[in-house]
Amino acid sequence: SDGEILGFLYSKGIKPDGVQTLDRDMVKMICKEYGVEVIDTDPMKVEGLVKKREILDEDDLDKLKDRPPVITIMGHVDHGKTTLLDYIRKSKVAASEAGGITQGIGAYKVQVPVDGKQLPCVFLDTPGHEAFGAMRARGASVTDIAIVVVAADDGIRPQTNEAIAHAKAAGVPIIIAINKIDKDGANPERVMQELSSIGLMPEDWGGDIPMVQISALKGNNIDDLLETVMLVTELQELKANPDRRAKGTVIEAGLDKSKGPFATFIMQNGTLRRGDVVVCGEAFGKVRALFDDGGKRVDEATPSIPVQVIGLNNVPIAGDEFEVVDSLDTAREKAEARAESLRNERISAKAGDGKVTLSSLA
Ligand code: GTP
Ligand code: MG
Repeated sequence: SDGEILGFLYSKGIKPDGVQTLDRDMVKMICKEYGVEVIDTDPMKVEGLVKKREILDEDDLDKLKDRPPVITIMGHVDHGKTTLLDYIRKSKVAASEAGGITQGIGAYKVQVPVDGKQLPCVFLDTPGHEAFGAMRARGASVTDIAIVVVAADDGIRPQTNEAIAHAKAAGVPIIIAINKIDKDGANPERVMQELSSIGLMPEDWGGDIPMVQISALKGNNIDDLLETVMLVTELQELKANPDRRAKGTVIEAGLDKSKGPFATFIMQNGTLRRGDVVVCGEAFGKVRALFDDGGKRVDEATPSIPVQVIGLNNVPIAGDEFEVVDSLDTAREKAEARAESLRNERISAKAGDGKVTLSSLA
């Protein structure tokens, strides 16, 4: 109860007055005392999601069309995320990665066969290495569905928990892929028990979390997994208005020696075309060229589709939102306004970093 927590704080020499804010360390200390596990989610990430849900405007409502689902594959390092995506795409990315570790968010459009039809889906591959928490958060915030891969011979590990926390914070449905069932020592039942104990109850046991036992390497049950993805997709009724200026999120960005600054965008609404003027975060520019996930030049990118963009004046930050505006002048103004507000945010962040009020805990 509140009284107990207050008593505990008093015993530590902290005298909160009910409106005082508690910093992260205090919260962690309280949780430790009461044996509660803390999953530290950044409120900014959650905010990013709220913005995502609001990405449709009133004007869009009578022009909405179906859009492909964006599905993020997350999970602990080496549990088989890239191998799964390779199987789905019939490619061999995992084998060519340096040290077998995924470094960035790979975004791919895949035609998934369902009932004799080919349905487009967009998959994001995220790294499981602990150093890439921000990328997983970003993946979760632009996604419609999270596939969390758990190796059946290893079970729940730290980045499994983190992936689940990000998906929950982003409010997206979770599908569990219990992978490596072909291996000696694979124990899918144990993985299901572990997941139940953290509140993810398998559908097969009367819960609401779909769990599919797969081998990403051999291809067992991948069709079941994709069918589950399509079922969850249908329930979401994903729509966007392709007949408007594009907006969305930067999922990766960098500097290419010959091409200059580049950024990978995920279209969340509208259609982006060559020649459009975009502002993203503090960067802006006229789109000189668009490249699809295979590196091929394209003229446009429709909702949900990832595309690499050349023509920005600067390298934006992954996670930045972008939008098309009417002129370079508007773009420059917006980019400058954004830079200014970021400076202010940084100043006020110094004044009150990561504070939680006591009442927000109750
Ligand atoms: P990070 O990107 O580093 O987080 O790893 P990842 O989750 O993408 O794992 P990756 O797909 O690179 O696979 C790691 C290793 O597990 C590779 O050697 C794969 O061949 C192997 N592996 C993946 N899936 C399976 C599977 O279903 N069965 C078996 N036996 N091995 C698998
Ligand atoms: Mg990988």
